[in-house]
Amino acid sequence: MWCQSETGDLRNKQDLEDLFSQTDFDAVIHFAGLKAVGESVANPRRYFDNNLIGTINLYEIMAKYNCKKMVFSSSATVYGQPEKIPCVEDFQLMAMNPYGRTKLFLEEIARDIQKAEPEWRIILLRYFNPVGAHESGRIGEDPKGIPNNLMPYIQQVAVGRLPELNVYGHDYPTRDGSAIRDYIHVMDLADGHIAALRKLFTTEDIGCTAYNLGTGCGTSVLEMVAAFEKASGKKIPIKLCPRRPGDATEVFASTEKAENELGWKAKYGVEEMCRDQWNWASNNPWGYQPEP
Ligand code: UFG
Repeated sequence: MWCQSETGDLRNKQDLEDLFSQTDFDAVIHFAGLKAVGESVANPRRYFDNNLIGTINLYEIMAKYNCKKMVFSSSATVYGQPEKIPCVEDFQLMAMNPYGRTKLFLEEIARDIQKAEPEWRIILLRYFNPVGAHESGRIGEDPKGIPNNLMPYIQQVAVGRLPELNVYGHDYPTRDGSAIRDYIHVMDLADGHIAALRKLFTTEDIGCTAYNLGTGCGTSVLEMVAAFEKASGKKIPIKLCPRRPGDATEVFASTEKAENELGWKAKYGVEEMCRDQWNWASNNPWGYQPEP
């Protein structure tokens, strides 16, 4: 684990050298990636530099210091526009944009490294849509600028920072016309990492294995808005808008593999996700910044 007081940049090999020369690490959980789809289309080099180069540097230093256990944050984005749902880990993979391509490449890179050097144990965790916040209400998501993702956007409407939510697409072939995703509470996601780490230490022949971290339940955009209104007691004004380019109609996870092999299953539903997101938002309407 990165020492608490330290900051560093994976692109800077000296930062990694300084860190690994000071401490013996048994394993690494690698979360450090950029994740905004639109930004990746506008500035792919930034994504290749940060996500790819940073991770390649990390593998190099880990190998040098003989730390060969890795839990990597992948994404459901590697399923592209899934032909079938639920998404099962052995589906064919596809990237839809430069961000997705970095996750796909990094999965392939992990598989290649492990194949060439079988002593590596690598778990790729494919996150579905992480939402919610720590139960304390003191740790949560604080995106810079206008949020790209649904829940931080809803949250900013609820606290009065944004006037209304644009609902992208109301003519999808779904129960209410809006798109369906598999939202997962960040605390469940965190537990999934602990389960993965445990698996790495107990399974000699894990190789390089991917697991979905999702709930297996699909929720539509309009259902999410209604759940948040209920949790917060706030009205979320909406504007029905055209579909967002590149969005899939319906995505949700098959959870069997993670349940059977990691012994992990999401505990929380949409109600708890909205409760904790609102707890964070109402206590910290401006995130970590002071009110302007
Ligand atoms: N949406 C709105 N209004 C908004 C924001 C989002 O209607 O203001 C809708 C989207 O159109 C989509 C749903 O809410 O139908 C969820 O959108 P998000 O942006 O929250 O999440 P995505 O499913 O698009 O994206 C997530 C991750 C990405 C990942 C992608 C594909 O955030 O990192 O899944 O797996 F690439």
